[in-house]
Amino acid sequence: MIIADELISWYKKNGRDLPWRHTKDPYIIWLSEIILQQTRVEQGLPYFYRFAENYPTVKDFANADEDDLLRLWQGLGYYSRVRNMHRAAKIVMADYDGIFPNTYDDVIKLSGVGEYTAAAIASFSKNEKKAVLDGNVFRVLSRYFGIDTPINSSVGKKQFQALANEVVSDTQPGLFNQAIMDFGATICKPKNPACENCILRLGCTASKNGLVNLLPVKTKGKASRNRYFNYFIIEKNDAYVFTKRGVNDVWANMYEFPLIETESDLSTEELQLHGKFKQEFEDVKILSIGEPIKHILSHQNIYAKFYRVVDEQNNIKKKPSWNYYNSDNLDKLAKHKLIFSFINKYLV
Ligand code: ADE
Repeated sequence: MIIADELISWYKKNGRDLPWRHTKDPYIIWLSEIILQQTRVEQGLPYFYRFAENYPTVKDFANADEDDLLRLWQGLGYYSRVRNMHRAAKIVMADYDGIFPNTYDDVIKLSGVGEYTAAAIASFSKNEKKAVLDGNVFRVLSRYFGIDTPINSSVGKKQFQALANEVVSDTQPGLFNQAIMDFGATICKPKNPACENCILRLGCTASKNGLVNLLPVKTKGKASRNRYFNYFIIEKNDAYVFTKRGVNDVWANMYEFPLIETESDLSTEELQLHGKFKQEFEDVKILSIGEPIKHILSHQNIYAKFYRVVDEQNNIKKKPSWNYYNSDNLDKLAKHKLIFSFINKYLV
């Protein structure tokens, strides 16, 4: 049997029952696929339900308030995804009369939709013959065919896409795409793959040659940059100061405490002598709260420290970018993980 038929027949018996697999609505499929980028199914599921319930149509999504979208997305990371979705939903309203497109050539034009997502939407919703290439597909193909070209090189991407285009089913491309991704996620896993139960074992080059744990090959990416964030908790009458982040950095448009970024890790004393600190707070007293936190993003390591600002004499002047929020209202702000974890641990 050819690999496509084997995978499809495996999937019909063993595929996971996931909510977005019961629809052909390209809007709902788009929601699920963007949520699932860089996200495990178990983590993405509650977000999928939340978004599908709050915004059942692309019109509802387009009309949403960006702050509400960010707040619902809170905890999922890569927040630019949801901002791109908002842009895409508005384009669908303006250019497609509110009817979410379902062809590869149309959906790929939408903000935040790349080749993988366009292939997924077009193949799942209208069975267009486009092969998806995600981490699961790279792994299955690399092992089955014994290919060691790095999957994060441009040569590798071309080679694997060409191979995926060759093996995708002619008649059931949507089902095949679901099947190969599910197979990669549940059988041909990155670590401890279930080779003993694998229906492709007899044809699998990696299995025959003892290469399963060496494939796929990935070259080292660029090094991560270290950043040092010092946050200041300023409280007055049970209200806290928050600022909204700018658009050109991590966590764009999300709310956080006033921040001073420094070039290195500073002690409390060093921080109080730092020029930026003096400019913001002159010489108010600060007290460190909790442990420093390391937060890893795709190309940055963020080292965060939190300080309580002690301002008994009311010396601090409110800055234009500051707003006070009552402690009962903090839920309404879209906050990134560093901030809501801190609040849950120390402020509620
Ligand atoms: N990951 C990304 N897309 C997926 C899908 N449609 N089903 C399961 N896992 C996925």
